[in-house]
Amino acid sequence: MKNEQNDLMEKIVSLCKRRGFVWPACEIYGGFSAAYSYGPYGAQLKKNIKDLWWKKFVEEREDIVGLDGPILLHPKLWEASGHTAGFNDAMVDCKECKKRFRADHLVKELTGQDLEGDLAAMNDALAGQKCPECGKSSWTEAKMVNMMFKTEMNGFDGPVYLRPETAGAIFVDFKNVCDSTRVKIPFGIAQIGKAFRNEIVARNFIFRTREFEQMEIEYLFDPEARWEELFDKWLVRQEEFYYALGVQKENLRRFEHPKEKLSHYSKKTVDLEYNFPFGWSELSGLANRTDFDLSTHAKLSGQDLSWTDSATGRKFIPHVIEPSFGVDRALLAALLAAYTEEKINNSPLERGDSAAESGCVKNGVTEEVRIVMKFPAKIAPVKIAIFPLLKNKPALVEKAKNIFDELKKDFTCEFDDNGNVGKRYRRQDEIGTPYCVTVDFDTIEKDDTVTVRDRDTMEQQRIKVSELPKYFSEKLK
Ligand code: GAP
Repeated sequence: MKNEQNDLMEKIVSLCKRRGFVWPACEIYGGFSAAYSYGPYGAQLKKNIKDLWWKKFVEEREDIVGLDGPILLHPKLWEASGHTAGFNDAMVDCKECKKRFRADHLVKELTGQDLEGDLAAMNDALAGQKCPECGKSSWTEAKMVNMMFKTEMNGFDGPVYLRPETAGAIFVDFKNVCDSTRVKIPFGIAQIGKAFRNEIVARNFIFRTREFEQMEIEYLFDPEARWEELFDKWLVRQEEFYYALGVQKENLRRFEHPKEKLSHYSKKTVDLEYNFPFGWSELSGLANRTDFDLSTHAKLSGQDLSWTDSATGRKFIPHVIEPSFGVDRALLAALLAAYTEEKINNSPLERGDSAAESGCVKNGVTEEVRIVMKFPAKIAPVKIAIFPLLKNKPALVEKAKNIFDELKKDFTCEFDDNGNVGKRYRRQDEIGTPYCVTVDFDTIEKDDTVTVRDRDTMEQQRIKVSELPKYFSEKLK
């Protein structure tokens, strides 16, 4: 089972590179410390995930507004939020092979104990334990290191940080949002953007990186309201979002942080975890941050960050529930959930010549394993691929180009005339394209119909060219 899972991760990493979803950044210089680039299909997939989130949580709601704050923010913000003093992880090095580890993760791996935050206990637990890399037992003292990236800014005295979470900008802009819009408590402020953490060890592909994206909402409410109900509703909304990405119910679970492990600002935190090939791990978080952030910002800035109830005149600092999603982890879960291998015996029309060329035609029957990314249509990077049956027949190519030009006005389309049709189908299956349209001789000589092939069923039907926009509007809505 474990091997099958490792195998799955390897297959995803390989498909991501092969098909232009994600690959290691700066490969021409030998790569750069677990940094990844999103290739053409990955960038589109990521955009579709963010667009879906924005639509669900901003555009379709009356009570949530959007924000796009800066990455470089006033360092006082991070003082107030507790990041300057306390955003630390424990680091330990093997003195023999110089391999660096996150100490609490290493202790968990070697002893099964969860000692996060307790340096002394971690040092005791590591004594005598063997380095998983070199097998020796010689450790430096575990020490806490701050995870914020430090930089400098012209005209500013002192260190400046790349934001470690998008939430910060939302709190410092709370007053401006209230003053410039018609929001009424309860309401939320949503933001999507980059966050940076100087992780001691970045690993598991795009699961843990030092530069990543978050989609966060600070949902502000009256401290006298029943926050438990609100919290539960938000958990369900978060789960629904992952189901919309194609995540299967059995691969998603809730994990409530024990009271003694809660962050300094949180009254309750529940993570949604996904059953990744490397084990159940955090996909997103939901925390009741109380009035911690607004109160500390009010104190440090000297500004009034309270809300006045217009009906009663009652003044209070709103409390906050924070649903926090990681874009890259959502994308990784969507890739894993979509990945499918199917043994198929298919028709000559479906296979083109590719099966015969790859030697998998036995006694006239084609046996092939097809890899198909069964993304929900909403997030699929390409919605429709359009092919002329043959590249060297100008009439077919021209007709297919015309259809492409028409459909691309409303859908993300791709034109492909390379190789045989069977190979083109396989390529689009791996990209996760829900529909392929093929222009053949019947199209131009007979009835102006094309073949529309469904990714999941592989069924093909003839549709009139004039009916394609309506057909796809219904299928892809
Ligand atoms: N504002 C709350 C906050 O930032 P968090 O649990 O530290 O909470 C929220 O981060 C989400 O951001 C995580 O659930 C995860 O999806 C994503 N995330 C955090 N660190 C990450 C990293 N190093 N690489 C990729 N995603 C990360």
